[in-house]
Amino acid sequence: MSFLSSGAILITGGAGFVGSNLAIGLKKRFPGLSIIALDNLKRRGSEFNVPRLLDFSIQFIHGDVRNQEDLINLPKAPSLIIECSAEPSVMAGYAGSHAYMINSNLSGSINCFELARHHHAAIIFLSTSRVYPHEQINKLIFDETANRFELDDQSRLPGISHRGVAENFPIHGRRTLYGATKYASELLLTEYSDMFNIPYVINRCGVIAGPWQMGKIDQGVFALWMAAHVFKHSLRYVGYGGMGKQVRDVLHIDDLLELIIYQTTNMASVQSKTYNVGGGTANAISLRELTQLCREISGNEIHIESDLSNRPGDVKWYITDNSYVMKDTSWNVKANTERIMTNIWEWIRRHETELKPYLRC
Ligand SMILES: NC(=O)c1ccc[n+]([C@@H]2O[C@H](COP(=O)([O-])OP(=O)(O)OC[C@H]3O[C@@H](n4cnc5c(N)ncnc54)[C@H](O)[C@@H]3O)[C@@H](O)[C@H]2O)c1
Repeated sequence: MSFLSSGAILITGGAGFVGSNLAIGLKKRFPGLSIIALDNLKRRGSEFNVPRLLDFSIQFIHGDVRNQEDLINLPKAPSLIIECSAEPSVMAGYAGSHAYMINSNLSGSINCFELARHHHAAIIFLSTSRVYPHEQINKLIFDETANRFELDDQSRLPGISHRGVAENFPIHGRRTLYGATKYASELLLTEYSDMFNIPYVINRCGVIAGPWQMGKIDQGVFALWMAAHVFKHSLRYVGYGGMGKQVRDVLHIDDLLELIIYQTTNMASVQSKTYNVGGGTANAISLRELTQLCREISGNEIHIESDLSNRPGDVKWYITDNSYVMKDTSWNVKANTERIMTNIWEWIRRHETELKPYLRC
């Protein structure tokens, strides 16, 4: 079952970082493809991506997934919906904007599933590692080394190994409103698929990074970190001792694109599966180490303050165990952290003047 030959591909959140890169990447690879990018341009900087989409003959619809009417009046019926719209900031749910998060991330997703039902379309759902409760992750045992937190061998929970967090990690516990809206959408998608025969695949992504990410303090930290080095803004290490020892694995957007192409062209083999998708152990890096990398690439050294207060819902460590997705598909991670950060640096340098107001710390 391939969605590259029939109908249109609708990418919701299509002017966002992930959505726009997937839309353009798919169009470059398959020029005959009809792609519709729908976005309400809520994310500051997403408007910057609209001319890029148009340059690649991708149809842009200024629409909102919260409104069924915006979805139903599309110029062409979709055979595949790639759901990338979201309020993706964990912090947003704490800053008084929780209603928007629930309405977009949950009601908006349901509207997309309804659209899939209406058109007998398949869904690729962009979910998050944040479905795994922070309560459970912070129960693990970590060793503190000079530059990072490392998982201690004595950490014993299902789904945990030296490779990171696998899909059978405990799912019970508090996970932030962001994680909850995503997990609730996953559950509903499973039921929609069962009741209405909608093919779907869920990708629980760790941190994704690369060019065209409008990084801000609460989301898109890799782009933000490099931007601060280019524009010589100061930064802060927040929480867990304020030393920047928190660890994340990072995936290049181009690597995610390759997986989405695989899933789009092999839906029958990935159908009804839920995968953890991320950079993995080789791409795990602490903020301190990221600072060092940014210094080396940009040649600039900036002031970094220390803030001892922990952020609600934050985790000391998260690394994706990609074993399942790699075993099930021919996909693997190609870009290392150095390439990811170099690509971000090159992008910022190419568009320095236009990006300066967007990439503020
Ligand atoms: N970037 C990451 O590190 C990461 C990690 C895990 C999961 N994800 C998931 O990937 C998806 C894309 O994230 P991203 O990094 O591109 O974020 P983004 O903020 O860059 O893109 C999301 C887009 O959705 C749009 N949007 C928000 N509310 C909308 C609404 N009601 N109707 C229509 N459009 C709306 C925004 O304007 C934005 O352009 C999200 O579902 C996110 O949860 C991202």
